[in-house]
Amino acid sequence: MPPLTVTEHIDKAIRKIDKSTAIDHWDRNLGRYDAEELMTEVLRRKLTAATLDRVLDRSSKKRYAAMVARRVKGEPIPRIKGHYEFRGLDLLIRDTVFVPRASSELLAKEAIKALRRHRGKRVAVDVATGAGPVALAVASEVRDSDVWGVDISTDAAALGKDNADRLGLNNAHFRAGDLLDALPRRLRGTIDVFTIHPPYVLRSDLKELPTEIREFEPIVSLTDGSDDGLGLVRRLAAEAHEWLKPGGVLLVEVGTYLSRRTQATLRAAGLVDVTWTKDDLGVTRVVSGRTPRRT
Ligand SMILES: C[S@@+](CC[C@H](N)C(=O)[O-])C[C@H]1O[C@@H](n2cnc3c(N)ncnc32)[C@H](O)[C@@H]1O
Repeated sequence: MPPLTVTEHIDKAIRKIDKSTAIDHWDRNLGRYDAEELMTEVLRRKLTAATLDRVLDRSSKKRYAAMVARRVKGEPIPRIKGHYEFRGLDLLIRDTVFVPRASSELLAKEAIKALRRHRGKRVAVDVATGAGPVALAVASEVRDSDVWGVDISTDAAALGKDNADRLGLNNAHFRAGDLLDALPRRLRGTIDVFTIHPPYVLRSDLKELPTEIREFEPIVSLTDGSDDGLGLVRRLAAEAHEWLKPGGVLLVEVGTYLSRRTQATLRAAGLVDVTWTKDDLGVTRVVSGRTPRRT
């Protein structure tokens, strides 16, 4: 049998990925996207017509087959590649830390928009920061801001710091601790924007999650153990008044189904102008509220 071309390897991979029961096939072209992304990673170049007609050399063939096998078992693509692009930043990914999602780009965008409404030195804090995608995007796009990322996982805080160092973002700082425990006290009353993409899966829904999430993401990144998925959000909303400037903003990324309850949670904590926004991906909402301005 003649050796297979790049296109033929991709087609074979699509068939395997499409059959995988470990993956959430939310888009019918997902198999193709995944197979092409992995091939791009192996070849380290775009898939042009000339590239697609090439015959794959032995070592690339072996590497591609191993990557596809990992994906078929449910491993997320960024973890297989070891890196992920978020708002143009190339972020390192590690096994013990939640893999950033494209849906969180909206949270970063809203935070950047809120910060740009003010002049001078601005302070943003990304709570439950994970690998730091939101904190790092804010630090990169609002250079005269001071950005803090905090996470209960020491691995996450360490990865955030490594990513900041790698990207040369010396205005981004990472600390490990529960909620706001690791933040310097001097930040009280100085923060312009809080962002949080919390672990919002209901405890009772954990077993329903697709294998690619349930078995590959740390449990602490999925649920806070509360019955309604909003335990961490309630705690942050209660503390927001003490840490935010008057008129400071709290932005929360949640699944669409939690949007109303999140809005009610922010209002119950005394935040005002509570509203929400969504993007074209449509899988999450960013709910926002702010502390009252001084009269
Ligand atoms: C859904 S992940 C979001 C990570 C990151 N913001 C992102 O979008 O990729 C939730 C994160 O919450 C962190 N977390 C869970 N409980 C926490 C707590 N009590 N205090 C701070 N972080 C917490 C987890 O370690 C995890 O990194």
